[in-house]
Amino acid sequence: MKKKELLYEGKGKKMYKTDDEFLLITEFKDDLTAFNAEKRGNEAGKGALNCKISTELFHLLEKGGIATHLVETLSENEQLVKKCKIVPIEVIVRNVATGSLTKRLGIKDGTKLPFALVEFCLKDDALGDPFINDEHCLLLNLVKNQEQIEEIKTIARKINSILLDFFDTKNLRLIDFKIELGLDKDNKLILADEISPDSCRFWDKETNEKLDKDRFRQDLGNVKMAYEEVLKRILN
Ligand code: ATP
Ligand code: TYD
Repeated sequence: MKKKELLYEGKGKKMYKTDDEFLLITEFKDDLTAFNAEKRGNEAGKGALNCKISTELFHLLEKGGIATHLVETLSENEQLVKKCKIVPIEVIVRNVATGSLTKRLGIKDGTKLPFALVEFCLKDDALGDPFINDEHCLLLNLVKNQEQIEEIKTIARKINSILLDFFDTKNLRLIDFKIELGLDKDNKLILADEISPDSCRFWDKETNEKLDKDRFRQDLGNVKMAYEEVLKRILN
C-alpha cells in the first residue's frame, strides 16, 4: 500500500491518503497533549505502544462482533484503516466516576457507577469539546436521527462490556474511555480512531495505581512505563 499525501495531522496521530481512495494510513505520534492541548509533551515510543495496544483491542472487539476500521498493521506505529466519515461526537463511557464527571456533578472520585454511563462531547477543539445531549446531536445534525443515537449508545455499551471483562482478567479496572465512530463507504457505523491509554483510564485492580494518560495530565511520572505495563498485561 502506497503512503500518499498527509490528509490531516491531529494531536496524537497523522492520517495519510493511500493509492486506494477508501483506505487511509494512521501514523501514531509520540506527542502527548492534555487540557485541549494547553499541556504538551513527548514520550519516545509512545506512538508505537498505542498502535500495538489499539491493534490488540480492535482485534478483540472484532472477535466480539464490533465492526472496526482496522484493516492491518503496517509497521510499529502505522495502521491501514478504512476511511470513514467521522461522526463528530466523542462518545465517552464511564464505569467509575473520576475526571470531569466528579467536577461537574460532585460525585466522589472513585465511586463505582450503578450502570455504565454514556456521555457525548461535541468534537470541536475551538469550543473545548463541550458536553452535549441527544437533542443537541439532532439539533446540530451530528447524527441522522434518534435511532442512530440509540445505535451509537448500543455499540458503546457493547464495547464497554467486552473491554470490562477483558481487562478484569488482566487485573486492570477500566474506569472510562472515549471512542469515535464513523460511517464507512456503505454508510455503516464502525469503530474508528483508537483505543489506548491516551483515550482510556486504567487503574490497577489491587492498588488503584493509574496506568494511563492521567500520569501525564497530573505529572505523576513514568508515563511510558504505565503504557508498557498495559501492553504487557494485554499480551499476557
Ligand atoms: P481529537 O480526536 O481529540 O478531536 P485530534 O484531531 O487531534 O483530536 P488525532 O487522533 O490526532 O485527533 O487525529 C486523528 C484524526 O483522524 C481524528 O480527527 C479522527 O477523528 C480521525 N480519524 C480516525 N479514524 C479515522 C478514519 N478511519 N477515517 C477518517 N478519519 C479518521
Ligand atoms: P473526562 O473525565 O471527561 O476528561 P478530563 O478529566 O480530561 O476532563 O474524560 C473521560 C474519558 O474520556 C477519559 O478516559 C479521557 C477520554 N477522553 C478523550 O480521550 N478525549 C476527549 O476529548 C475527551 C473529552 C475524553
